[in-house]
Amino acid sequence: MLIRSAKEDVKYIMFTREQIAARVRELGKELTEKFRGETPLMVCVLRGAAFFFTDLCREMDCMMDMDFIAASSYFHGTKSSGTIRLVKDVSIDMENRHVVLVEDIIDSGLTLEYLVKLFETRNPKSVTTVALLDKEVNKPERFNVDYYGFKIPDKFVIGYGLDYADYYRNLPYIAVIKEECYQ
Ligand code: IMP
Ligand code: MG
Repeated sequence: MLIRSAKEDVKYIMFTREQIAARVRELGKELTEKFRGETPLMVCVLRGAAFFFTDLCREMDCMMDMDFIAASSYFHGTKSSGTIRLVKDVSIDMENRHVVLVEDIIDSGLTLEYLVKLFETRNPKSVTTVALLDKEVNKPERFNVDYYGFKIPDKFVIGYGLDYADYYRNLPYIAVIKEECYQ
């Protein structure tokens, strides 16, 4: 059997696990302050935000509920197609709740916009958006995220939840993969 290493395909590391942990700790502090005295409903956008979400929630010191949603943006290769489909909905009622939507990365902003608009139809008290990465793409009309971990150049990244063709999510850091790995 062929044993394939994920780390072998890494071209370079953009953020180490220590850098990620330090930034997630800061975000957790900010959100703890923001929601002091409240019980936010934390919503993880599967699957990319899974590691970020669980780390972020553990850096927040408040009472909270957690729920999970999945949206597919019909990703072809490394570019989003712009068509978004809800794959899995939340199961907790968000009416009159402070909802925190946790995403892995904002690229075109279409997924975020779709989910925020969907949530707003459900009468939450507020919707706050958080993404670990915010890609600097040249789109002035893009839907903006309230809190982000790092701004990154317009490059395709993997690791810490982010995938290419469903692989590499388990890398403990955020990296760029070698060109030859995009078959
Ligand atoms: P958007 O709708 O174009 O903002 O894309 C958002 C989704 O596309 C993210 O939730 C990711 O799943 C995926 N995505 C965008 N850029 C990257 C990347 O660089 N690496 C891995 N996934 C990405
Ligand atoms: Mg995603």
